[in-house]
Amino acid sequence: MAQHPTAARHPTAQHPTALIAYATAAGSTAGIAERIAATLAEDGAEVTCRAVTDDLDPAGFDVVVVGSAVHSMAWLPPALAFLPKAAASGAPVWCFSVGGLASPDSGRVSRYLAAGELRRIETGFPHGFTPREHRLFTGVVDVTRSPLWGRVFYRLTGGSSGDHRDWAAVAAWARRIATAMHGKASAAGSATA
Ligand SMILES: Cc1cc2nc3c(=O)[nH]c(=O)nc-3n(C[C@H](O)[C@H](O)[C@H](O)COP(=O)(O)O)c2cc1C
Repeated sequence: MAQHPTAARHPTAQHPTALIAYATAAGSTAGIAERIAATLAEDGAEVTCRAVTDDLDPAGFDVVVVGSAVHSMAWLPPALAFLPKAAASGAPVWCFSVGGLASPDSGRVSRYLAAGELRRIETGFPHGFTPREHRLFTGVVDVTRSPLWGRVFYRLTGGSSGDHRDWAAVAAWARRIATAMHGKASAAGSATA
């Protein structure tokens, strides 16, 4: 997705601007980031969707979405290293994690496990940083690539290899971001009217 013009980077502008930044090991997080980007673009936002790199600059965007694959209950180092910059940008920061756990929408046990994993992941976030939301999505699971404890866990919880990405849930979450962006834009518009 192309870089947007700098002139569009203002919450009161016609098109709010969004940065979707992600870290992936095997690619499934990139697919989720792209779906979030596409949903925000369909909603009229100017969207930049990028893998996190050292020189990625979150300054000037109206909203920043940061996602990472989960390895050993933590984000990948590039995504963690990017979070302080995202927080310092002043934009609301929405976070998503992509792991092998079943979707929190799929039942009480899954919700409980997902909440625990999200809490554990957040212990690696910068001190004092609170994301606008932090959502867990299920990614593409290859049980054979997981560490031994992971293989045991998948076996005990009935998990299996495969592409478990829930595109409807991803799009629904992206629409929450879009709604919040519009709320911010209209609040800013009415404040300056
Ligand atoms: C080495 C390794 C460790 C993993 N550890 C976890 C974990 O602690 N929790 C979890 O939910 N998923 C874990 N997973 C599953 C991945 O997060 C999942 O497959 C995800 O979709 C990978 O995203 P990616 O395709 O963007 O790399 C692990 C996978 C690997 C390969």
